[in-house]
Amino acid sequence: MKIISIAIQKGGAGKTTTTLNLAAALREAGKTCLLVDLDPQAGLSQSLGIHDEPFPNTYHLLKREAAGIPGPPEDAIIEKSGLDLIPASLELASAELELVSVYGREHILAQVLQRLERRYDFALLDCPPSIGMLTVNALVASDAILMPLTPEFLSLRGAKSFLRHLELVRRLNARIDLLGLVLTRYDARKTMTREVEAQLLQDYGRDKVFTTCIRTSIALAKAQRAGTDIFSFDKNANGAKDYRALAAEFLSKIGSK
Ligand SMILES: Nc1ncnc2c1ncn2[C@@H]1O[C@H](COP(=O)(O)OP(=O)(O)OP(=O)(O)O)[C@@H](O)[C@H]1O
Ligand SMILES: [Mg+2]
Repeated sequence: MKIISIAIQKGGAGKTTTTLNLAAALREAGKTCLLVDLDPQAGLSQSLGIHDEPFPNTYHLLKREAAGIPGPPEDAIIEKSGLDLIPASLELASAELELVSVYGREHILAQVLQRLERRYDFALLDCPPSIGMLTVNALVASDAILMPLTPEFLSLRGAKSFLRHLELVRRLNARIDLLGLVLTRYDARKTMTREVEAQLLQDYGRDKVFTTCIRTSIALAKAQRAGTDIFSFDKNANGAKDYRALAAEFLSKIGSK
């Protein structure tokens, strides 16, 4: 199982939308994925129609593992729209503080996911918009990071500071690599979009910037509101085409690693 963090500390970058729809596109391509909601806001869980406080959820898996009494993580997996998800709830916010005093605190999630190693081709981790214990746990568990960002100049700064942080995480996980940056809410008619894209290519090179861009597509937001992925909602929408292309590029990039 390859573990991928979908992460950047900037809010609203398209992390949750990308986690969900990339997994759905990989499912279409015949791959099995586990989705893990690591955000106390539980946007990914809500995007799959889970609005209550599921038990057990990511929080309980981390707590049990941290206490040295891990239960089977399978207990927390919910199947929705043909996707397997470990959901989150607001209690996960307290994990940020509770993990601080635990031995091996940065490795707790990695240990949980190790128990699921043989069940899936990929695990996609939807990170919160911050660099705290939850995001560090995600990065320590991961083989690669995929960073979505919107075409704005603030995003460029966000990406740069996140990558600086990633260098520090390498002390704990030397194998993590930046798989690539993906532009979301892309609108080629806007000058700023083209400028930000050019800057990204200049700063990181073609190898680290996905050729696929996710266009602004209202159907993506509508699918999220309807509690499902874009392929189940409208498989002909631009959002579906773009995530299908992203999955193909993702597989070729990850295959060559
Ligand atoms: N390509 C797109 N076209 C149109 N709307 C989009 C697109 N991508 C994301 N959105 C919308 O933008 C909003 C933010 O996206 P999303 O929740 O995926 O970002 P996020 O990085 O997970 O945010 P947070 O940092 O708060 O977790 C959502 O309402 C989502 O529906
Ligand atoms: Mg999110």
